[in-house]
Amino acid sequence: MTISNRVKSINPSQTLAITAQALKMKREGKKVISFAAGEPDFDTPKNIREEAISAINQGFTKYTASSGIIELKEAVVEKLKKDNKVEYKPSEIIISNGAKQCLFNAILTLCNPGDEVLLPIPCWVSYTEQIKFAQAVPIFINTRQEEAFKLSAAQVEEKITSRTKLLILNSPNNPTGAVYEQEEIKRIAQLLLKYNIYCICDEIYEKLVYDNAKHLSIASLSDEIKEKIITINGVSKSYAMTGWRIGYAAGPEDIIKGMSKIQGHSTSNPNSIAQKASVEALNGKQNAIEEMRKAFDERRKYMVKRLNEIEGISCLNPAGAFYAFPNVSKILDRGIEYNGKKISNSFGLSNFILKEAEVALIPGSAFEAEGYLRLSYAASLEDIKEGLNRIENILK
Ligand SMILES: Cc1ncc(COP(=O)(O)O)c(C=O)c1O
Repeated sequence: MTISNRVKSINPSQTLAITAQALKMKREGKKVISFAAGEPDFDTPKNIREEAISAINQGFTKYTASSGIIELKEAVVEKLKKDNKVEYKPSEIIISNGAKQCLFNAILTLCNPGDEVLLPIPCWVSYTEQIKFAQAVPIFINTRQEEAFKLSAAQVEEKITSRTKLLILNSPNNPTGAVYEQEEIKRIAQLLLKYNIYCICDEIYEKLVYDNAKHLSIASLSDEIKEKIITINGVSKSYAMTGWRIGYAAGPEDIIKGMSKIQGHSTSNPNSIAQKASVEALNGKQNAIEEMRKAFDERRKYMVKRLNEIEGISCLNPAGAFYAFPNVSKILDRGIEYNGKKISNSFGLSNFILKEAEVALIPGSAFEAEGYLRLSYAASLEDIKEGLNRIENILK
C-alpha cells in the first residue's frame, strides 16, 4: 500500500463532509437548510475588507516573515493584554493559517510518539486526528450533560500517567457551548503545575458568551501557569473571517519557535493580505462583535426553546460559541425505521434528517459523543425557524 500508516490512521473531517453533502444537495436544486457549518453567516465587517483592498493596492502581496508580520504580532500582544490580562512579547506569538494550523503546529511541537494527550469529550473534530497524526495518544475524558459538559480536576487527575504531556481545553466549547468558570479553571491549573503538564487552551469562541458567562484565559492566572499554556485564538469566529485563514498562538518562546520551524517548512507565512486585514480587525472598531453576539444570542434562545419542545429531546442552554447540542438518545431508543432499518445512532439520525427533511446537522459521534446532535445557530432566524419546523415534523 502506498499510503503511509500515519495518514491511514486519521479520519476525514465529518463536519466538512456533511457540509459538502448539503452543498451538493443545494446544487441539485434542493432547499437544504444547513445547521452544519461552524461559521458566522455575517459578512466580514467593512473596515476590515477595506484594509485588505488597500493592502492589495499598495502591493502588500509578497512573502512575509514566515511566522507573521510584526504589526500583527504587536496587535495580538495588545489584544491579549487588554482583553485577556496576559502579557506576551512579539517573540512569544505566531500567526498561522487559521487557529487550526496553530493547533496542529502546537501538538506536533509538544508531542513525541506515545505521549498521552488528555482530551475532554465531546470535543471539536480535529483534535483527535491531529493528536493521532503526531503519533501521540488521545486519552478521552467524558464530560456529562448533568455537569454542563465540564471537566472536573478530579477527572483529569484520574487519567494522568507518567506519559501525560498535554491537556487540551476548549472554552467556550465546540460543540457543547460549555464555558469554564474561574474556580474550575484554577483547580485544573493547579494540576498542570503539580504534574508538569502543558495545556493548549483553544479560545477561538471567547467573544461569544451569553447570559452571565465570562471568558477567562487560564494563562492569566499567574506567571508560573503561563509557562505551561499555549493559548490559541484567531479572527475566524469573532470577526466573521473564516475564509481569511488567520489564527494566532501565544506561549513560551521555545514552543513558539518550534511551531515556527514547522510552519517555515510547510505553509510559510499566512496570506499577507489577510494579515493586514487582521491588524485592522484587532486594532479597529470592535462594535461588529457585539452586534453579531446579540444576534447569535437571540437565535440561541429560540433554537434551544424549540428543541426542548420536541418530544424526546433535551438540550442545555449553551453558555458560549454558536452551537446547540441536544441529547437525542430517547429518540434513538424509540427506534425510528428508515429504509427498512432501525436508526440506532446519531449518524443514522442526522442522515435521516438530511435526506428526508433536508436539514443538515452534525452527529454527536463526530465529536466523540454518541446520542447527541450538533446544530449551529449561525444561520438566519428565518432558516432556524423553518429548519426546526422540518425537524419537528419528521420526528413526530
Ligand atoms: C474549537 C475550534 N477550534 C479551532 C477552530 C479552527 O478555527 P480556524 O478557522 O481559525 O482555523 C474551530 C473551527 O471550527 C473550532 O471550532
